[in-house]
Parts: sequence; structure tokens; C-alpha cells
Amino acid sequence: MSDAKALVDALFAGDSLPEEKLAFLLGMSDPDSVDYLHSKANELKHRLIGNKVYLRGLVEFSNVCSCDCLYCGIRKSNDSVHRYTMSVDEVLAGASQALDADFGSVVLQSGERSDENFVDLVEKMILAIKNKYPDCGITISCGEESLDVYRRWHDAGAERYLLRIETTNQKLFQDIHDAKSLYSKRLQALHDLQEAGFITGSGVMIALPGQTLSDLARDLIFFRDMDLDMIGMGPFIPHPATPLGASFKDDDSSRRQRVILSLNMIALARLLLRDVNIASTTALQTLDPSRGIVSGILAGANVIMPNVGEKTLRKDYLLYAGKPVSDIDAKQAKAKLTELLAAAGEEIAVGTPGHPAHYLRRIRQ
Ligand code: 5AD
Repeated sequence: MSDAKALVDALFAGDSLPEEKLAFLLGMSDPDSVDYLHSKANELKHRLIGNKVYLRGLVEFSNVCSCDCLYCGIRKSNDSVHRYTMSVDEVLAGASQALDADFGSVVLQSGERSDENFVDLVEKMILAIKNKYPDCGITISCGEESLDVYRRWHDAGAERYLLRIETTNQKLFQDIHDAKSLYSKRLQALHDLQEAGFITGSGVMIALPGQTLSDLARDLIFFRDMDLDMIGMGPFIPHPATPLGASFKDDDSSRRQRVILSLNMIALARLLLRDVNIASTTALQTLDPSRGIVSGILAGANVIMPNVGEKTLRKDYLLYAGKPVSDIDAKQAKAKLTELLAAAGEEIAVGTPGHPAHYLRRIRQ
């Protein structure tokens, strides 16, 4: 424990650590060391950005996807998925619900498509939301697009974009994606997002088959070197209708380990990246339904993304097995989270777009 404590204290003070030490901290599972890591990360969050948790209303507006990622339930070749794409009005209805409940911002997420109809549709969604709520924050999460498309969506009024690198181990990246998905293209897309002026977020899946603690340590170093503003990460969860999910052994002990590793990843991202926004994700909640979301916040995350899309379609956006299909609206989600977070000493931020402090600091410099 004393070794671990000294390393955590060094990170807390702003020192950097080599990959092996980060990997060592990631692999900790004894309760005292883990508690210390998480509580120091949360203390640093309070010190740098306060105890306010940002809510984003998540609208999963289409599950049509041109990719065939080996882990993802809405991959192109999964024929059992009922495919849908919401209209601009349907997206505006979901966004309005969140923004009328004072969330301050929304995330529009979908499968990946790059045809002109799709690009145009997303642009119209952004314009419609900004027209009604000029001060809200909009995050897009629609995968890899060209620099031109990123510029169009940014010009339409979206400020933030989430595009996960999924893993920085290039061999593993190739193993879990179809042949047309290239690591080099993913990396270029992240640079293009930054070039287009987006507040850019990325992240990885945690505990993928074949992924090592050193891989995850390198992921953290990558986030820092890319100067990202936002991080979204969660445990890998098998989906039975996917090549990676079909053979994965998902027992209680594996689930517990994946939860701890995910929380360690969040805490280390906080200690290393300091004032970025970090999400406590649905995948974490899936593996630990009663405490997952709040545990993420207590390990240093500061963003939660409740689903505010059309209720009847939520069941069709199943990226992995057991993804909770909530049937509550934005107001109810906010009331529930307010209560859960209050018990943990955290509060919900109201009516702010919730841009990351890391970004605000950079533009002021
Ligand atoms: N387990 C965990 N996360 C997944 N995602 C997709 N499929 C899975 C899965 N089986 C994540 C990916 C993607 C994000 C939208 O959802 O990281 O970027």
C-alpha cells in the first residue's frame, strides 16, 4: 500500500509517471489502495473543477451503421437489429426535454455513415437545436468523417465531438475492427476534429480480450499527449450476436474485475489529465447497476449522459448485452441523479453548456 500511496501522491502533485508505474496502479485491486486512488482523484477533481456534475441529454438518433466492429451490437452484419433513424423533429423533442430540464447540453450519437443525406440530416439537427436553444452545448458522436464534414457540423453550431480510439494498441485495434477501419484513419480523424475547432474527446474500451494493463497505461499517455479535452471510457461488455462477444466468459468475478479496472482508469485519467471532462458511462452502470454511475463520479468523473431519446427506440440501440433500457424522461432522470449524487456529496450543474475547464483554460491562454 505504501508504494501505491507514494505513486498516487506523486500524480496528485502533478508529477508524471512512467508507463510501468501507471500499469501497476491500474492493476491494483486491494480495497485500501483502490479507495486511496479513487479518493485522491476525486479530491483533485474537487480542487480543480469543483463538485458539479454535468448532465448531457443523450439522443441515440440512428442505429444504422456502415461499420462491422467485432464487439458492437449494432454492427452492420447483425441482421437481427431493427434499424431506425429519427427525424429532425424527433431529435429536437428529445433535446428539448433535456434542455427544458436545464441539462444545458445534449449529445447526438449514432452509427457511422458518411453519405450526403446523413451529413445533411445531422447538420439540420444541430441547426434546429441551436435555433431553439442558442446557449446550449452540443456534442456529436457519429464516428469518422472527413475534415470538411467536421467543419460543416462545427459551423452549424456543434462545439464538441466524441470519437473513441477504442485502443491505442494498433494490432488489437485491427483485430477488433473490420478491414476497412484503420487505426491511422481513426487517428487522423481525431486530428481533423481538433483542426476543425472541436472540443475533442476520445476514449477506450477497458478489459477487451487480449488487452494488457500496459496497453491501458499507454492509452492514458496517449490521451495526455493528444491534449484531449474529454474522456469517455467504459468496460467491454460482450454482445452475444458479435464475434468478440460470442466467446467471452462473463461471470461475476470477471464483471467485478472489469468494474474496478474501469474505475482505476477513470481515477488515473483524472490524476494525469487534471481538468478534462470525464464521463461516468452507461457501460459502467450496466456492470454495476446500483452503484456504477456514482462510483465513476467518486473516482473522478464529472459527466453523466442520461438517455433522453424516444423511449420506444431505446431498446434498438443495444451496443452490448444488458445495456439498461430506461423508460424515464429527462426530468425524472435528473431527479433520481440529484438524489443519488447528493448522498455522495456531489451536485448537478444547471443550465450550463459544461465545456471542459481544460478547454476554457487553453482558449484563455
Ligand atoms: N462493450 C462496451 N462498449 C462498447 N461500445 C461498443 N460496443 C461495446 C461493447 N460491446 C462502445 C464503443 C463505442 C461506443 C459508442 O460504445 O467504445 O465507441
